[in-house]
Amino acid sequence: MGSFKFINVAIIVAMLVPSISAVDYLVGDDAGWTVGFDYQTWAQDKMFFVGDRLVFNYPAGVHNVFKVNGTDFRQCTTPVGAVPLTSGNDVITLATPGRKWYLCGVSNHCSIGQKLSLYVMTVQIAWSPISPPSPAPSPFPAYI
Ligand code: CU
Repeated sequence: MGSFKFINVAIIVAMLVPSISAVDYLVGDDAGWTVGFDYQTWAQDKMFFVGDRLVFNYPAGVHNVFKVNGTDFRQCTTPVGAVPLTSGNDVITLATPGRKWYLCGVSNHCSIGQKLSLYVMTVQIAWSPISPPSPAPSPFPAYI
């Protein structure tokens, strides 16, 4: 009986390890890449790893996708000469670890929230979230 339980646990752990296969993330899920969507909240509960892909889905011509640096992201500017992705089904492979920034360069879309920032983790770090290092928060404030 015990060995059956161990096998089940091993299978579940294998399914949780992200390095087994890359994940395609549809940015904004069903909403796609648009205005009026909170992409920071969308990204918050996801873990991105090197090799995963972002799919930006939108009607071609209505939006676009610029990969920018942190300063451009904050200011909603785009680098001089940078060429945006415009196909409406733009796939970006997260090839390197670290912080990444994307925004829409059409009109004022970025400044009203069409921007996405996320952190890409390496495969090595990917093993640690199975047991998060941060202490579990106390269910109640101490003063109660
Ligand atoms: Cu846009």
